[in-house]
Amino acid sequence: MSERSFTFLIGSGRRDGNSERLARRAAEALSSSIEQRWLHLLDLPLAPFADLRHGDSPFPPPAGHEQTLLDATLQPTDLVFVAPLYWYGLPAATKLYLDYWSAWLRLPGCDFKGRMAQKTFWAVTAISDDEDRMAAPLIGSLELTAGYLGARWGGALLGHGNRPGDVLHDARAVEQARTFFTEARDA
Ligand SMILES: Cc1cc2nc3c(=O)[nH]c(=O)nc-3n(C[C@H](O)[C@H](O)[C@H](O)COP(=O)(O)O)c2cc1C
Repeated sequence: MSERSFTFLIGSGRRDGNSERLARRAAEALSSSIEQRWLHLLDLPLAPFADLRHGDSPFPPPAGHEQTLLDATLQPTDLVFVAPLYWYGLPAATKLYLDYWSAWLRLPGCDFKGRMAQKTFWAVTAISDDEDRMAAPLIGSLELTAGYLGARWGGALLGHGNRPGDVLHDARAVEQARTFFTEARDA
């Protein structure tokens, strides 16, 4: 059986925030034999996405940060979206990264869709609101994206907090983090 590997893509507008801390807590349960790669989208800024799908010229070949993100997207078996709730949805950096997938789907020789279909997608999010349901658009967009690509949806881990570190006082989230990546789920 092939070994698993995880890419964690952090989309917060700050470092060491609640969603990242919750994701790191959950990742502690992963076996040391499972490779973890952590990328903060603040370190890999992308240009505004240009929709060239129906024009005369193809998307330019990926380079720079785009290439780094494409490699980090294709390489792992598991892709974790570490993303706080911003205005009931995904933070802009995560959304922009996802928009590039529309270019990568058309990249000659890449087989982006076929390769993404082999993966499991996960979400780890932090929200300041008391009500979990406020994060439904964020979680729903990622789950639907997984479905579109034929990928497996691992699920969402949600914690409450506002100031950095608050989320580690959310006892339910911390408890769920212990088994989030490791407990058996129905396929
Ligand atoms: C631009 C922005 C928009 C936000 N929108 C929401 C929101 O719609 N609902 C909510 O509950 N919290 C919202 N928050 C609060 C964050 O989700 C909360 O502070 C979270 O803990 C941040 O996670 P982080 O530390 O990983 O960045 C918003 C914060 C920012 C900066």
